[in-house]
Amino acid sequence: MIAQAAYVHQIEAIFRKEFNREPALLVRGPGRINLLGEHTDYNGGLVLPASIDKEIVFAIARRTDRTGRIVAENVNQSFSFDLDDFTQSPLGWPNYLMGVVDQLQKAGYFPGGFELVFGGNIPSGAGLSSSAALECGLAFGLNKLFSLGVSTLDMVKLSQRAENQFVGVNCGIMDQFASMFGRDQSVIQLDCKSLHHEYFPFLTTDYVLILCDTGVKHSLGDSEYNTRRQECETGVAILQKYKPDIRLLRDASTELVDAHRDEMPGKVYQRCRYVTEEIRRVRVACEFLLQNDLAAFGKKMYETHAGLQHDYEVSCPELDFLVDQTRPDDAVLGARMMGGGFGGCTINIVAREAADAFVARMSMAYEEAFHIELKCYPVRITDGTSVLEV
Ligand code: GLA
Repeated sequence: MIAQAAYVHQIEAIFRKEFNREPALLVRGPGRINLLGEHTDYNGGLVLPASIDKEIVFAIARRTDRTGRIVAENVNQSFSFDLDDFTQSPLGWPNYLMGVVDQLQKAGYFPGGFELVFGGNIPSGAGLSSSAALECGLAFGLNKLFSLGVSTLDMVKLSQRAENQFVGVNCGIMDQFASMFGRDQSVIQLDCKSLHHEYFPFLTTDYVLILCDTGVKHSLGDSEYNTRRQECETGVAILQKYKPDIRLLRDASTELVDAHRDEMPGKVYQRCRYVTEEIRRVRVACEFLLQNDLAAFGKKMYETHAGLQHDYEVSCPELDFLVDQTRPDDAVLGARMMGGGFGGCTINIVAREAADAFVARMSMAYEEAFHIELKCYPVRITDGTSVLEV
């Protein structure tokens, strides 16, 4: 059970003030971290994410008409739309929500009008998937409010489609899956091809997960994400000539990629090698979790960072600096960049007793090197999207 943070009461209070009544339902949609398995989701590979105690809270109630009235507490903006006739908004954030309504309707589910206030504590631009939290939270809330009967997996899929088609971001399925299916003290090993998932224990009594936020988001990130996807597809097309049943890089091994290295452009080879190695790494690392060997697990995180930095080339100087700073530190078991790359956060496994010293040291070094204040967020793994009982 999650302690009720002050912002939950604030969201409720805004709802009362705005709509003159009590919300019918409170929902929390968490952000996500990813321990291992980066840039593998759109290759049908394995990922290892978890939902965390950085979340968006939704206060929601039905309306009798066909209007969606929404207040975004964080940005202090309101938005209304007609459920039977809507299109993209230049405001940006309403698109994540309208996208979900759009996808629900396309799938044959018809929620009625609703009133909604949302807000929370997911730092924006840090790569913790506030967008997935927004989509999954609304899908979950409307599903409950109108008893639509959508399965959890279908809510995940339609939230991803909302982002792909309505918002126009070509993301994989990891973020939405993690936000919806997360479980306290566990990471999710998700097979992004079969969508089979399994929980592995991630017990952090002696260790704490700390995110270090570079505070930068290099603008080439989005275009490079799409380029990486294309490079992976090029690799698949080349490998298919030799093994026609290969549909995704997930279906190939590092050995196969190596065997056809000469037929691939250099960058394509590097991308394929990284992805096939990373998928294997997730498998191996999960065995370490079963043995509760976080030290061995942490070494895999450093390997992932090296792959993302040198082979997949989605890191940046700020992220590399933060990871390098941790290398001589015995209190840090593992560190790597997290998410799409080109900015956002690193994720670190740090001895609990050394956490304060870690934050102080990292902040000082980062400020000195980049003249940017380093924000550090200790995070706790929590359950996924759920009703909030107050
Ligand atoms: C972004 C996307 C995810 C995933 C990661 C990289 O966060 O939204 O689907 O591809 O990048 O692992």
